[in-house]
Amino acid sequence: MKAIVIYQSKTGFTQRYAGWIGAALNCEAVAWKDAQAMDLSAYDTLVYGGWCHAGSIIGLKKFLKVAEPLKKNIAVFAVGASPAENPEIESALRRNFTQEQWERIRAFYFPGGLNYEKMGAVDKALMAAFRAMTKKQEGEDSEMYRMLCKSYDLTDEKYIQPLVAHCQGQ
Ligand SMILES: Cc1cc2nc3c(=O)[nH]c(=O)nc-3n(C[C@H](O)[C@H](O)[C@H](O)COP(=O)(O)O)c2cc1C
Repeated sequence: MKAIVIYQSKTGFTQRYAGWIGAALNCEAVAWKDAQAMDLSAYDTLVYGGWCHAGSIIGLKKFLKVAEPLKKNIAVFAVGASPAENPEIESALRRNFTQEQWERIRAFYFPGGLNYEKMGAVDKALMAAFRAMTKKQEGEDSEMYRMLCKSYDLTDEKYIQPLVAHCQGQ
């Protein structure tokens, strides 16, 4: 099985998971901006990872537009600020796919975190608005609001195991 991991990451969490997956599958992890110039038909398995942005997996639609006509095995992982135990993750993931894609493409969620130091001005402003909304709706003592107030890191290599096993079984 010849695999490649392609990712989009702004503050580094998705890139870290891509690196771990690449090491586990013994293959390259390449940023989407570089992967676009590559011949992806040379691979059997294409793994795509993108960070979650207001419920969307960043870059997924564009990636699938390129990858699906190649008729390769595709696996997707999304990295967000939510802990892995959040019960809404599966339905949120699902909204990124058509029904037909959801039945064919395996999608995984890995907890990332928040890194305000590496965020750009626009993302910082959007997070400030989201924080203010959470404070209003859930209160300043809510766990959600308190989490949003500072940077944190939930990444752990253990989360990649189901994706790695899935790819190795293909
Ligand atoms: C504007 C914005 C929107 C976000 N929306 C979501 C979201 O809908 N769900 C989620 O779990 N995390 C969301 N996040 C958090 C990021 O997905 C999280 O910080 C992720 O780990 C970033 O990955 P990266 O370091 O690879 O860029 C959002 C972050 C920003 C800045």
